[in-house]
Amino acid sequence: MPAWLQQLTKSLHKTRSQPESRYFQLATVDSHGAPKCRTVVFRGLVDETALSIISDTRSQKWPELEKASRAEICWYFTKTREQYRFTTHCRRFSASQGGEFVQQYWCKLSDAGKKQFFWGEPGETRDPSYPLKSHGDFSVPPPHFGVMLFDVDKVDYLNLRGNPQQREIHTRDDHGSWETHAIIP
Ligand SMILES: Cc1cc2nc3c(=O)[nH]c(=O)nc-3n(C[C@H](O)[C@H](O)[C@H](O)COP(=O)(O)O)c2cc1C
Repeated sequence: MPAWLQQLTKSLHKTRSQPESRYFQLATVDSHGAPKCRTVVFRGLVDETALSIISDTRSQKWPELEKASRAEICWYFTKTREQYRFTTHCRRFSASQGGEFVQQYWCKLSDAGKKQFFWGEPGETRDPSYPLKSHGDFSVPPPHFGVMLFDVDKVDYLNLRGNPQQREIHTRDDHGSWETHAIIP
């Protein structure tokens, strides 16, 4: 297991009672080259070193990552005072392509989470005097439900605890082995 993954596993364990420690910031680049950043929920690790999230395929991030698959994830654990900056590239899987893999993520969602996928097209104008639609067939994911996997290529780890602070860069060599080196924070 790469050293950064051992560290991340510890961070997740130490912060397991804090739901907000499962949120991280995901940065992409739009079609004009402008940076876009938003908060998303971490939904687990896949293929050992890929971070997974769920999203609506009609949201901006989906086509942005289709055009430019590289993304940065920034994750700060308040309790342990650790920051992870992940350099990644994204793989996308929509429910319309089918597959047991996407279905599994849908099944794990609460009813409140599923409901959000029936509100309508994200970003469209709404009339706040009318409630949003909240019914649908919850037994199968709608075609616009998607799972995104962010394969980690590099990790910039910073631990604010201690004096001096600890900062490490983790990179993968051409053979797939991870290397770690400490740098001045
Ligand atoms: C705490 C929190 C968690 C969120 N989790 C998700 C998530 O898991 N997936 C998601 O697509 N959007 C999530 N959002 C909403 C996004 O931040 C964003 O507003 C939405 O995805 C539209 O972004 P986009 O238009 O850039 O794609 C979350 C927002 C907050 C504040």
